[in-house]
Amino acid sequence: MTESTPLPAIEVKDLSFAWKSGKTVLDRCSLSVPRGQFWMLLGTNGSGKSTLLRLIAGLLTPQVGTIDIHGGLGIVFQNPDTQLVMPTVGADVAFGLVSERLTPSQVRHRVTEALRAVNLVDLIRRPTYALSGGQKQRVAIAGAIARQIEVILFDEPTALLDPDAQLDLVAQVQELVRSRGLTALWVTHRLEELDYCDGAFLIEQGKVVDRGDPEPMRQRLMQEATLVDI
Ligand SMILES: Nc1ncnc2c1ncn2[C@@H]1O[C@H](COP(=O)(O)OP(=O)(O)O)[C@@H](O)[C@H]1O
Ligand SMILES: [Mg+2]
Repeated sequence: MTESTPLPAIEVKDLSFAWKSGKTVLDRCSLSVPRGQFWMLLGTNGSGKSTLLRLIAGLLTPQVGTIDIHGGLGIVFQNPDTQLVMPTVGADVAFGLVSERLTPSQVRHRVTEALRAVNLVDLIRRPTYALSGGQKQRVAIAGAIARQIEVILFDEPTALLDPDAQLDLVAQVQELVRSRGLTALWVTHRLEELDYCDGAFLIEQGKVVDRGDPEPMRQRLMQEATLVDI
């Protein structure tokens, strides 16, 4: 690391994970995401990207290795329809604050500010069923911002979005990372999204095999995809 590299917000060291069936998914996998940066995680289907995110989020326990997270952590999943739980936009963002025992005016302030950050404050009273997929993903992000978390994991959040909503979302996350000092780790297989990241990891056979400048990884994955098409 150079002197100017910020300290890591996410640090995964020598992580190994196997399912009960015995299938090894991660094999001494390591990665480090610098604070205040937007990094992407690439890899073919079944390479263990979702498993790694779930381990980082504490939803699974590794057999070996360590995970250090600096700050609170949130996760945004692929399917916009499975992560909003309340009937309206404002109520959904407020729901995540229940355990903090804030006053009603503090809740209102947090919710409004978080929705403003994702440009949805005008939709605060809108029923969540009436939102587009991209808007639902932004409500999920607002939920994390309202909880004042510093690290957000994204598991293919654009996979079910149309191309315009896809690029709007990735650009918005890039902007939120820059303006609010968040750290984001974003799983994708859509290579055009790499234009928005500060760096990327490529995972293969349970290990991170490449990291840093996304361009060589893009070339490598495009070449592999072309070979598969033939
Ligand atoms: N709940 C589960 N139980 C057993 N095996 C699983 C489970 N979830 C995923 N797997 C297996 O773990 C491997 C990695 O899956 P996953 O992390 O979802 O990959 P990716 O997100 O990169 O497509 C795959 O072989 C998959 O079949
Ligand atoms: Mg996955």
